[in-house]
Amino acid sequence: MQHFDVVVIGAGAAGLMCAGEAGKRGHRVLLIEHNKKPGAKILISGGGRCNFTNLDVRAERFISRNPHFAKSALSRYSAGDFMTMMAAHGLSWHEKTLGQLFCDQKAGAVVDMLLAECRKGGVQVALGARTTAVSRDGDGFRLTGSMGDIRTAKLVLATGGLSIPKMGASDFTHRIARQFGLPLVPAEPALVPFTFAQDDRAFMAALSGVSQPATVATGAGKGAMRFAENLLFTHRGLSGPAILQISSYWTPDTAITVNLLADVDDVPAWLAAARQARPKAAAATILGERMPKRLADALTEQARIMGATMATLSNKALARLTDMLTAWRLYPAGTEGYAKAEVTKGGVDTAALNQKTMEVKDQPGLFIIGEAVDVTGWLGGYNFQWAWASGWAAGQAV
Ligand code: FDA
Repeated sequence: MQHFDVVVIGAGAAGLMCAGEAGKRGHRVLLIEHNKKPGAKILISGGGRCNFTNLDVRAERFISRNPHFAKSALSRYSAGDFMTMMAAHGLSWHEKTLGQLFCDQKAGAVVDMLLAECRKGGVQVALGARTTAVSRDGDGFRLTGSMGDIRTAKLVLATGGLSIPKMGASDFTHRIARQFGLPLVPAEPALVPFTFAQDDRAFMAALSGVSQPATVATGAGKGAMRFAENLLFTHRGLSGPAILQISSYWTPDTAITVNLLADVDDVPAWLAAARQARPKAAAATILGERMPKRLADALTEQARIMGATMATLSNKALARLTDMLTAWRLYPAGTEGYAKAEVTKGGVDTAALNQKTMEVKDQPGLFIIGEAVDVTGWLGGYNFQWAWASGWAAGQAV
């Protein structure tokens, strides 16, 4: 039987951070990962440059049954704290858009940095290691698995969400949480592309690869959400940042509304002015000045004004076109699921956890961090910031 002060299961963003912090505080720490390499999602994130945080981290940009829960950890370990760590390791970054910070070096440099912090703390990292059972053992825990029996005083579950099973995602934390009687918020794919039924899908598939700045909205009243970013047509439907963002707020059988001319303040006035100034111009040519030609052609065809000049368009036709361009109502058939979702919404209900330490309230010594918890960030570095912050909080408390 091996003995540790702290065992962390899952060497992803949150687990690496937590293990390093706990080790540096003098604990004997074991970090268990079932993949052969740590930090798989960090490595592929941000197109290989890891969008590691956001300059504008706010609690409203996280979805959770308790919208206040994440505030404590996020305020105690900020985006600036992570940047300080990066700078100390000689890493640099740049802002792409909307406060999103990307590493100038490859994403692997972020994993190397976290592993270096783990080494500083003397953390033992076990790769390719399976844990088959977890049970209470007095005031600690006993783990059984490929490393034999392990006893630990503190156990941290950090196996992330269900997204991208082929990269090693598992429901391990959710299962162990259930075993300990903890409440779970149903898990769902989030930050995920939409699929559509046949007609819409055929229209979208023909435009596959076309991208357009748009605003996409869903919900009503207090639950209304709107994002202004790029939208991407795909073979199966819609993707791109605007769609990924809204997918986290969409509920099945409801509509999304797309404005493909979000940059134009007054579309009816713009179209009327174009008709006056350039009556001989084809409607598709006018639209093509604000969007890719393929999209302009497809929309005018859909509106049955393909080839029509602006002069021939009645006020009614312009109103119909405006509606189609600015208030395109679509009913997604579903999403591309966990295979394509960037994150998992839901997870261990925050009601079970101490918001300062991530310790399970009625299971002393058990901690749950990262994406496995019911805290889901927007696209743009928020999910890593939650992983760093919750990992850090548990690392100080174990
Ligand atoms: P994470 O998934 O990082 O780590 C969990 C670890 O546990 C994994 O190493 C896994 O193999 C391991 N594990 C699972 N089951 C196990 C078991 N039974 N035993 C042992 N180990 C087990 N976010 C962001 O902020 N900016 C970005 O740029 C991106 N980009 C991005 C791209 C893609 C393609 C995806 C899929 C996701 C992102 N994300 C993102 C989201 C981000 O990757 C995610 O939210 C964090 O990695 C979550 O950190 P965790 O440590 O909680 O889980």
